[in-house]
Amino acid sequence: MSDPASLDFHDVRRFDSIDSTNRYLLEEARAGAPAGVVAVADFQTAGRGRLGRSWEAPAGANLLLSVLLRPVLPADERYLATAAVALAALDATGALPDAGGIGIKWPNDLVDRGGRKVAGVLAEADLTANGPAEGAVVVGIGINVNWPASDADLPPELVGAAVSLQQLSGGPVDREAVLQRLLDSLRSWATDLGHADGRQRMAARLATRCTTIGARVRVELPDEVVVGTATGLTASGHLLVDPDEADTGIRTIVAGDVVHLRPGPTRQPPGT
Ligand code: BTN
Repeated sequence: MSDPASLDFHDVRRFDSIDSTNRYLLEEARAGAPAGVVAVADFQTAGRGRLGRSWEAPAGANLLLSVLLRPVLPADERYLATAAVALAALDATGALPDAGGIGIKWPNDLVDRGGRKVAGVLAEADLTANGPAEGAVVVGIGINVNWPASDADLPPELVGAAVSLQQLSGGPVDREAVLQRLLDSLRSWATDLGHADGRQRMAARLATRCTTIGARVRVELPDEVVVGTATGLTASGHLLVDPDEADTGIRTIVAGDVVHLRPGPTRQPPGT
């Protein structure tokens, strides 16, 4: 990999319309593109979300971007490469009025105080690659900047589940300014990613802004479901869950889909 300290994210490739900026950069990685290339689209015709879902946004309203990284990391710290983009997005949104309450729902969603999704991150890699794409990871992020402008823009099933920076800050938000702040911040997290003490800094920052810690959660793993309380993050940024099931011990979740559960109904003590 190129020296992470030299990543400047200045090679920004802009598209009025493209199928998916993640797809584009995976192709570029296969063709040998260096770490640090950025793809930004006004519109995607086949935007990809996590778990095989699609990611849709009207043209020109939101930030749709991907970055190409080629991190050299211990295998159990690879999650931090993805988290670098979520942390950079958090920094980029923190400057907006009333958007300071945004946190990270583990692993990678940016959410507001009410748990509504502001941004989602999707990391993709070609794990079987043995050519130029070997070791490359493309991290894409979709940030709801100016859409929805109000809940009326949302399909009913997303009301209460999604929100935009415009809604949070009370007026239209400059997409380009958010992009530049994100790339500035990513420069510094990408540098941290290349050093053990920097990675510790990343995990510590994640822990302070992770809304999942302390929440009751259901974690969907490929062959089981774990229900319990999220108690913290490891030094690699993985989620620690204390399962409800007795005698199973604290679980370390490396990857999985997490649902925040509402606390169960509290029972009144007898006689009250
Ligand atoms: C999620 O499901 O939460 C992740 C959504 C990631 C969407 C972004 S938009 C830019 C990049 N290109 C894609 O096709 N997907 C990601």
